[in-house]
Amino acid sequence: MPTYHESVMKKEVLHYLNIHMEGVIVDGTLGDGGHTEFILKNTAPEIRVFAIDRDKSAIERAGERLSPFRDRITLAHGNLGNLKNLAAQNGISRIVGLLMDLGVSSPQLDTPGRGFSIKHDGPLDMRMDSSQKFSAADLLENLSDGELASIIKNFGEERYAKRIVRAIRREQAERSITTTGQLSRIVARVVTSPRHSRIHPATKTFQALRIAVNDELEQLKTALSDMLGLLESKARVAVISFHSLEDRIVKTFFRDEEKGCSCPPRMPICVCGKTPTLKVLTRKPIVPSIEEVTHNPRSVSAKLRVAERIYV
Ligand SMILES: C[S@@+](CC[C@H](N)C(=O)[O-])C[C@H]1O[C@@H](n2cnc3c(N)ncnc32)[C@H](O)[C@@H]1O
Repeated sequence: MPTYHESVMKKEVLHYLNIHMEGVIVDGTLGDGGHTEFILKNTAPEIRVFAIDRDKSAIERAGERLSPFRDRITLAHGNLGNLKNLAAQNGISRIVGLLMDLGVSSPQLDTPGRGFSIKHDGPLDMRMDSSQKFSAADLLENLSDGELASIIKNFGEERYAKRIVRAIRREQAERSITTTGQLSRIVARVVTSPRHSRIHPATKTFQALRIAVNDELEQLKTALSDMLGLLESKARVAVISFHSLEDRIVKTFFRDEEKGCSCPPRMPICVCGKTPTLKVLTRKPIVPSIEEVTHNPRSVSAKLRVAERIYV
């Protein structure tokens, strides 16, 4: 049996999704299908899952794993940002829950050829969808110094972005940067991790490039606004994020949709006419237990936020 991605906070996700209506749940980030399998095992046979992943190999692996449930699942290769169209193409107009477990899976991280990992040397790729045209190496080749520095600074929250870009350009004057090993060594020459830290100095740069290559933040924003038109009344959305940029987007979106009105505070009465669309169920994010983090150290930065669709 293959070693699958270790699904994070499975029980918490199932509990919070509170699936009590017949219908379709969307797993927007299928990965190895661990969450979907857990949902299918623990819900009534009338519950179906429509699962999306932009990585074709994830669809294949999860398809095998979920074959005992083939009557209850539909799998689609596609992007979360295209949720509305993917649902429509599959005849889905209403859903009774949505899960988004963001970021990359263990098979993606641990396969050197995918180019996500600082630890394993491989091509500097980082595409979740291998049919996408540009990779991380292409970004380094084609972006201006300013564009690259702004990606590393904003998506990696890296204060030494300009220094890193200068080091990248020095290397490129000699040879192209085509491997993860090459990039991690270049960054490690100009940035040092705090003493005793086990975090590699290129971690933030790798995160930034991955987010840029896969347009992760924009896809998330589009999926969040599109799901509002799909969720049934009282159906829930659960989002697991792994870094502060994603978590901030989810938190802000939930808060704004709970508030409804977006008029400036100085307006005496509401003129925007917006009404609340969500009730937030997690004032503070849910985080994995100590036992889970000990068993699965990759879960350490996970944050789960949940909201319920309301129609007023
Ligand atoms: C953390 S893994 C999900 C693991 C899964 N929940 C499990 O239990 O096995 C994230 C998966 O989401 C996919 N993914 C990330 N962003 C995506 C997006 N914008 N659209 C579609 N799939 C995405 C990745 O390709 C990856 O397979």
